[in-house]
Amino acid sequence: MNGKVHVSPSAIYPGSFDPLTLGHLDVIERAAAVFPRVLVAVVVNPQKREPLFTIDERKQMILAATKHIGNVDVADFRGLLADFAKRAGAGVIVKGLRVVSDFENEMSTALMNRSLSGIDTMFVPSDPKYSFVSSSLVKEVFFLGGEIDPYVPEAVLHVMRAKRATLRPTEPTEEKHPS
Ligand code: PNS
Repeated sequence: MNGKVHVSPSAIYPGSFDPLTLGHLDVIERAAAVFPRVLVAVVVNPQKREPLFTIDERKQMILAATKHIGNVDVADFRGLLADFAKRAGAGVIVKGLRVVSDFENEMSTALMNRSLSGIDTMFVPSDPKYSFVSSSLVKEVFFLGGEIDPYVPEAVLHVMRAKRATLRPTEPTEEKHPS
């Protein structure tokens, strides 16, 4: 030992979470087993597309799905992740990697975030059983009538069912023909 006291940094796990999947939850559980605190940071306006779920819905789903883990908090942020991570006092950014192509984007993002904030990124390899699961595929399968129970937490399934009910167009009423 060199006499230095090592304090584990808290981690920030950013994403759109539109919605949270079991792949995300697996990364959160594994990060929470290593770091003393994990802050799940939900971006308010994802760059990719308009989110299906409101920021409150996304946060509520994460809170419900992570209530069995004691050291997880949920927050939202706008703007640069590097700025928010610094303000939140995070020591490490955690990202999940599902497939090799994820690594290509994540590598440059990690280097940019470290250059902007000094905060390093640690990658968690996805559990192979979730390597094909993404929020966008889950939404597509669900709204086309497929089963998504194996891919999302129970709490997310409830909210998705409620969302589908609000989006479903009213059934066309049968046209009455004069006899
Ligand atoms: O779940 P996603 O959509 O893959 O998450 C992407 C997210 C939110 C992590 C990323 O878009 C992000 O960090 N957005 C904040 C804006 C930012 O900091 N951009 C510069 C990245 S170097």
